[in-house]
Amino acid sequence: MSKLKIENLFVSVNDKEILKGLSIEFSSDETVALLGPNGNGKSTLLQTIMGNPNYTIKSGNIWLDDKDITKLSVDERSKLGLFLGMQYPSEVPGVNNSDFLKSALNAHKEKPVSLFEFYKLMDNAYKKVHIPFEMSTRNLNEGFSGGEKKKNEILQMLVLNPDIVMLDEIDSGLDVDAIQIVANVIKEEQEKRGFLIVSHYAKLYDLIRIDKAVVLVNGKIAKIGDKSLIKKIDEQGYEWLKKEGIEFKDDESMNSISIGTCATKEALKGK
Ligand SMILES: Nc1ncnc2c1ncn2[C@@H]1O[C@H](COP(=O)(O)OP(=O)(O)OP(=O)(O)O)[C@@H](O)[C@H]1O
Ligand SMILES: [Mg+2]
Repeated sequence: MSKLKIENLFVSVNDKEILKGLSIEFSSDETVALLGPNGNGKSTLLQTIMGNPNYTIKSGNIWLDDKDITKLSVDERSKLGLFLGMQYPSEVPGVNNSDFLKSALNAHKEKPVSLFEFYKLMDNAYKKVHIPFEMSTRNLNEGFSGGEKKKNEILQMLVLNPDIVMLDEIDSGLDVDAIQIVANVIKEEQEKRGFLIVSHYAKLYDLIRIDKAVVLVNGKIAKIGDKSLIKKIDEQGYEWLKKEGIEFKDDESMNSISIGTCATKEALKGK
């Protein structure tokens, strides 16, 4: 069993502080639901845990068991058993899906995987996510529909076999049947690995086992609870947290948009 521990993390993107002293820990036998209002740092947290170099850690540490992984590269973290299914999977022209998966898998192993073993793994994964096997020869995510991209992230997880899986809005873009397919895969995999799952909707969380629900507000963990916390947020939103003394993000961006809009309206009046 692995344990991921985030300690007092401060993270900036383009010099803007996003995570402001965030601490959380969970282990590979747990499934954690991560919720929070838009733009409060959920994807930033997941990208930082995975080691995306665009996110600068100003202070704090990330531990995987007793290893400090704060400064390791994405590849090194992936080899240690971390995986991120992204909110916006990138299209990679010129690299086909199957070659990509094979080299990623081989990078994890001491001995390259045999063609037979790889075929078996792929065939099983494609069947589980209900993607036609012919798509393995297409370029990675290129021209994939929104839902196909998300299913392809789940497929990568199945092939790479990580201990800790982070899924960032895996359900966005999936039709109702596809959500059920992805939930079935997660349900089966929950016995083998840990999940940190970001979603804005109760639907996916309802279909799987949830051990803990965590709410991220303004770059910090604002509340931890059980599945009932998801239901409360689904019904009431986040406003009630203010009454509990949780500090929300000042939305400077909203202010500047409204000032900008007023200015534009004023300017138009004169025309
Ligand atoms: N390159 C960047 N430059 C400036 N600000 C950025 C950059 N990337 C992200 N941000 C800001 O960081 C904040 C946190 O973004 P993040 O993607 O982590 O939010 P989130 O909680 O995942 O939101 P959502 O629920 O909408 O996916 C946002 O205000 C976003 O605009
Ligand atoms: Mg996000």
